[in-house]
Amino acid sequence: MAEEVLQGLGSEPKFISPKYFYDARGSALFEEITELDEYYLTRTEMGLFDTYLDDMAGSLGEGVCLIEYGSGNSRKIRKLLEAVSPEAYVPVDISNEHLQENARELHADFPALHVYPVCADFSLPVTVPPEVDELTRVGFFPGSSIGNFTPLEARRFLTGVRETVGSGGALLIGVDRKKVVSVLEDAYNDALGVTAAFNLNVLAHINSRLQADFELDGFRHLARYNAEEGCIQMFLESQRDQDVNVAGVTMHFAANERVHTENSYKYDRAEFVELAAGAGFTAEAEWTDEQEWFSIFLLRGN
Ligand code: TRP
Repeated sequence: MAEEVLQGLGSEPKFISPKYFYDARGSALFEEITELDEYYLTRTEMGLFDTYLDDMAGSLGEGVCLIEYGSGNSRKIRKLLEAVSPEAYVPVDISNEHLQENARELHADFPALHVYPVCADFSLPVTVPPEVDELTRVGFFPGSSIGNFTPLEARRFLTGVRETVGSGGALLIGVDRKKVVSVLEDAYNDALGVTAAFNLNVLAHINSRLQADFELDGFRHLARYNAEEGCIQMFLESQRDQDVNVAGVTMHFAANERVHTENSYKYDRAEFVELAAGAGFTAEAEWTDEQEWFSIFLLRGN
């Protein structure tokens, strides 16, 4: 972690990897974000699952192995498990602790379900256990997490999923759509300041893990839509000229200098369909809300 953080802060422009958001407080703040008025993503996606679950289950058919990329909040997967009744469930996560906890909780409510946890970095192709070979493999990647990859990384990720699910396999994926800039920027800059606290918490996390001395009031949260890139970019902006010690190294921050902490790419329908096509998928179905703010796509492996 020290090496990676120092490398990012030594770069021009400076950055911190978003994976360091998620200490205990960061995870709790993120849960709070998903319930904010301005943060329409979670609510809209959940609404789509509630409304179209039977339709989705019908499209997936029987004899399914569900592969969840990143096993976070289990509300969505539970709905899907109930509606689809898959033969097997493969949660993939980098954290073994999350995996074990999730598997234990699910087993209590779905005793007949075969659960095969895989501890892996899902940005690389994932190998599923041979027990699911005869089943139709269906990936599940909700929450517009695809937007936290750059388009190039997203293509690579989708290509890996396509390899894992095979021809005739599928991916059910939530995608946040392009829309009026003010709606996008408000979603990442809420009035209560929860997203600001979430962003700033990365500095507190670094302080406690790397013996750093970031003063949190020396930085401010910024979220801007970059129209050329098609993404929301989050930054921490230094409020003054300052030096900070990080793991024994002194880092300088000029007044108004920005540290980039996260991207959230947004896609038009056509852009996303094209991205998926480049990875060997055809968009078989799409479910979206009235305003077309969020879409769930069913992609089928060519
Ligand atoms: N993928 C979601 C999004 O881009 C969730 C998310 C990831 C997020 N990192 C975040 C939300 C940082 C707010 C801030 O919206």
